[in-house]
Amino acid sequence: PETRRPLIAGNWKMNGLADESLLQIKDLAARASKISDPACDVLICPPATLLRDLAKAAMDSPVAVGGQDCHANEKGAHTGDISATMLKDSGAHYCIVGHSERRTDHGETNADVKSKAEAVLREGLIAIVCVGETLSEREAGTTLDVISDQVRNSLPSGATAANTVIAYEPVWAIGTGKTPTVLDVQTVHAHIRTELNELMNDANRVRLLYGGSVKGSNAGELMAVENVDGALVGGASLTAEDFWPIVNVC
Ligand code: G3P
Repeated sequence: PETRRPLIAGNWKMNGLADESLLQIKDLAARASKISDPACDVLICPPATLLRDLAKAAMDSPVAVGGQDCHANEKGAHTGDISATMLKDSGAHYCIVGHSERRTDHGETNADVKSKAEAVLREGLIAIVCVGETLSEREAGTTLDVISDQVRNSLPSGATAANTVIAYEPVWAIGTGKTPTVLDVQTVHAHIRTELNELMNDANRVRLLYGGSVKGSNAGELMAVENVDGALVGGASLTAEDFWPIVNVC
């Protein structure tokens, strides 16, 4: 079977002030640095205001930092927006795009997400492209169609296993404590893999993350599912104490 190096990523969303965040990343970096040969990649995506400080604090550790969103352009008249160029300049190695909160709160379409992901790749960063169905879509039985549509239309051109990660986050599982069954996760991840196989050459090496109410107590079970190559973690990534047990699964 293909070997895919797992990625355990934390998405802090709109949480984190400087002092406490620095303590947390230093704690995480110290724990990770004690492992001589880490079996997975570890990433924290803090608010952009903290990127440079956190990147510096984690510099000599296995912990990388990334952005949560970016503008599709490199620079220009876009008040309040941040480009992938700026994220890279601040020390980011990754950027999440198309998180469901961006799709919902900011009306981002698949085409928007694709342009953003392409901006991420232009900077040589790794794009984490998020997909996921809403509760009503799941109840209507359209989950796999929704996922197909999102994968096909959000995937950046030039995507490879080295520069693109897909995160499956069922919207109804985010921050709710609810998770899909292991079988549901397995079905959707297998479906994403099949879709990717039609879209790119090295689809079997692309990492597919699961996200939505991942915590220390369920990470083992979720990470053991076929085609689950890591996690995108919200609430449980905010402290090193909560995040470390998830990292430790791999
Ligand atoms: O991007 C990760 C996130 O949406 C999942 O959030 O709090 O359910 O782990 P949470």
